[in-house]
Amino acid sequence: MSRRSSLQGLWSSRRSFVLAATGAAVGLGNIWKFPYLAGINGGGAYVWVYLSCILAIGLPIMIAEVLLGRRGRRNPIDGMRLLSEEETGGGWWRTVGWAGVATGILILSYYSVVAGWALDYTLRAAINLFDRGELAQAGRAFDQLRNAPLRQVLWHTAFMAMSCWIVAKGVKGGLERTVGYLMPLLFLLLLVMVGYAAGTGGFAQAVDFLFHPHAGLDGRTALVALGNAFFTLSLGMGVMMAYGAYLPEGISIGRSAIAVAVADTIVAVLAGLAIFPVVFAQGMQPALGPGLLFRTLPAAFLQMPGGSIFLLVFFILLVCAAWASSISLLEPAVAWLVERHAIPRARAVLIIGAIAWVIGFGTVFSFNRWADVKVFGQTIFQNLDFVTTAILLPLVGMLIALFAGWVMSKSSSADELAEGSLVGYRVWRFAIRFVAPLGIIAIVIHKLVR
Ligand code: TRP
Repeated sequence: MSRRSSLQGLWSSRRSFVLAATGAAVGLGNIWKFPYLAGINGGGAYVWVYLSCILAIGLPIMIAEVLLGRRGRRNPIDGMRLLSEEETGGGWWRTVGWAGVATGILILSYYSVVAGWALDYTLRAAINLFDRGELAQAGRAFDQLRNAPLRQVLWHTAFMAMSCWIVAKGVKGGLERTVGYLMPLLFLLLLVMVGYAAGTGGFAQAVDFLFHPHAGLDGRTALVALGNAFFTLSLGMGVMMAYGAYLPEGISIGRSAIAVAVADTIVAVLAGLAIFPVVFAQGMQPALGPGLLFRTLPAAFLQMPGGSIFLLVFFILLVCAAWASSISLLEPAVAWLVERHAIPRARAVLIIGAIAWVIGFGTVFSFNRWADVKVFGQTIFQNLDFVTTAILLPLVGMLIALFAGWVMSKSSSADELAEGSLVGYRVWRFAIRFVAPLGIIAIVIHKLVR
């Protein structure tokens, strides 16, 4: 059966697929979330669980998602329905697509708020508000923003509009080219920042904090690490399926996925190595929470020569990285409305974008007006983040692993992964059938008992 009839065309090469997938993967998860979670959760042990989850659970599941995407050749919901019918005769597994699409909208709702903070900082860096004399104000600047719901709503709206605009135009056009330039730039700038951080006197302490396990890990922390391994790789909601659907035959899925995972992990580790030396050199606490990046970096940058330019460039790049990621959060739901319900692309984008935009208000107010509104002892933002990242992404990831490893016939998966080596295929199949599901179950059990 020909599945080439996909509505949206194919990537032109392996490189363009890897770029788009890296664009989806590298974002606030690496530069904002990873450091602040490592900070809250005590460093070392958290970081090792996170890295192990990327390698042992995330990578095999990424391969599985791309594989399912390419085989289904459709948006995640319809693709999963098709594969489900093909492999089992029933449509149950399309639930996976559904859960993924819903999760994506929820994540986008707060992702856009935080990206809005980055927009705010970009503007402030541009008009040079953080001038050298006001170093001490980096913390104050964040507090001001945090306590200004209207300002956050405006930036959230601006960011959401930027994302919707690109998705309405169709994801593949300018994205390839833009990401191709921006990613290497971001990478370079992070290297410069790490180089600078290495000279601040806090570097050794930062390395120790990040890579030396200081204490055991409670169950919740391990689950958070697992969830964020999914988050950073953009797994568990159908993004990689949606992008895999446009992958031409004959391109190695395994090698592409390894390239994406490696690039993504390097960016996260570099961000940690750029931020924590500053934290320690300036006598700040690692557990600053979601404001960590926004409090530490301006202070550090402005001490270096030419710092205000670096600061500006950094925030521009951060916004762009978040932009490429947010596009991927919108795309699966939009593709489904377009393909399945024949809704014009622009209108589909408006519908999905509007839903995420409204939900985003909950996050904005979590930091000010509704800071005291707690469910299970946590703010709305914290709940939204925990439920999507630590529960839904691993759950959907688990279902994807079970489908690809146990439900789908060996001939189907071998067929898709045939470009790779036989040994590689065997390792993947073992990982997707045993390592990934059992790893997820082990972490969930650990959480339940500790
Ligand atoms: N991975 C992105 C980041 O690190 C965020 C993201 C994009 C994402 N698409 C996703 C997270 C899909 C989970 C699922 O910033």
